[in-house]
Amino acid sequence: MTPDPSIPIPVLPVDADRMHVADPVMVDEILEYVADRLLTPEVPLDGLADRDHLDQVIAGLIGEGPRDFREVLDVYANHLALTVLSADSPRMFTFIPSAPTKASLLFDMVVSAASLQGISWFEAAGAVMAENQALRVLADIAGMPQSAGGVFVSGGSAGNLSALVVARDTRRRQRAEAGLPDIPLRVIVSDQAHSSIVNALNITMMGALRVPTEDGRFTGAALRAALDGHDDLDDVCAVIATAGTTNAGIIDDIAGIGEVAREHGWWLHVDGAYGGAGMLASELRHRYDGIENADSLVMDPHKWWFAPFDSAALIYRDPRLAKAVHTQDASYLDVIHEHETDINPSDLAYHLTRRARGLPLWFSMAVNGISAYRDAVEHSLEMARYAAARLAAMPDVEIIREPDLSVVLFRRRGWGPADYEAWSRRLLEAQRAFVTSSGWRGEVVGRLVFLHPGTTTDMVDEVIDALG
Ligand SMILES: Cc1ncc(COP(=O)(O)O)c(C=O)c1O
Repeated sequence: MTPDPSIPIPVLPVDADRMHVADPVMVDEILEYVADRLLTPEVPLDGLADRDHLDQVIAGLIGEGPRDFREVLDVYANHLALTVLSADSPRMFTFIPSAPTKASLLFDMVVSAASLQGISWFEAAGAVMAENQALRVLADIAGMPQSAGGVFVSGGSAGNLSALVVARDTRRRQRAEAGLPDIPLRVIVSDQAHSSIVNALNITMMGALRVPTEDGRFTGAALRAALDGHDDLDDVCAVIATAGTTNAGIIDDIAGIGEVAREHGWWLHVDGAYGGAGMLASELRHRYDGIENADSLVMDPHKWWFAPFDSAALIYRDPRLAKAVHTQDASYLDVIHEHETDINPSDLAYHLTRRARGLPLWFSMAVNGISAYRDAVEHSLEMARYAAARLAAMPDVEIIREPDLSVVLFRRRGWGPADYEAWSRRLLEAQRAFVTSSGWRGEVVGRLVFLHPGTTTDMVDEVIDALG
């Protein structure tokens, strides 16, 4: 059909070549930068920022017109990047570090270069299939049933929030079906639950029944003691166990807590964002007993499963319950919901569009094999034990508790916050390590976290010797 001459042909404002056709020189130079970074035997720690200087180098960089990419890349590589602490440095001993495998980093580039989304079976069957295979491996390691399934979300916080929304709304539906009134609900947490849980409860407008712990470990016995005499538990919908607390690396008594949850018909959520991978270490596996009974479980590949940011595996015992809560309903989306039995990644958390962020883990697990992951986790555990033993042997230092996982908390006698801060500053200025203090029962203490398989005992010695 010839076009109707009365319809004006638009004068297109964009020449596609300007942004959407790759400049081969830019491709080469960016890939060269990336290759350099990937092939560097030990990435520098970096991380010392002079904000005035950054203000100057970045000023006016984005204007109306184009700019040579080399100029912008230079600002990034020689100024901005230097002020970003390398979470993947083997000398990073704070927060929860990151140590993505090279295979996972490379495949993350594939996910980006191919704009791989993982929203639904309809649009992205191959990506969903691969992500589900990786989730199945994780679910099997936890011993969850074949019915289990889930999705990779952006982080542990997003996973905890999405799971708690399902716990809440499942209970609300059950109450409605039983003819009970809709009431504000509560969740049982320990005093060591991660800050993201507190946030999730705020967002979901649920209250917390907080159980105190004696030495940081939440147990079934502590839970029973806290419930003793309470006959007002109708409004409780869930209980949360942590499989590796962030501050001290403590694995809760998941089996004991789960037993109480089962007796009351409560949802059991296990937050293994940091510590879930510890299950790979055979000598520790029994400490996770009961995790197989979780109604929902979070484990972050961007932490101890050696994948790049940002990735958390959220696994439900019965993903259909999550689908009933999170599925977004809009007429333009009807096409992705045509097959009722399909469970799309977008149906399982608070999101719609998502990159297929599980694929870097999938690729790396397939390429490296699970035993390499086991070795890498065991390396971190060995480093933590080595550091704990060295610290315990120092006259002025005391271990707060023997490490369950790869976090060591210690007290340097006579030190206050300013001393820990000076220790941290000295080590970073010398680019030997990045460490920060933390708190334990109101006291400022030292905290070291081990995660990188490239961390050596020499590196640990440097940190410990700097305690003076
Ligand atoms: C136990 C635990 N839960 C949740 C989170 C939050 O995870 P994210 O930072 O990926 O949102 C963390 C982070 O360290 C964590 O250790």
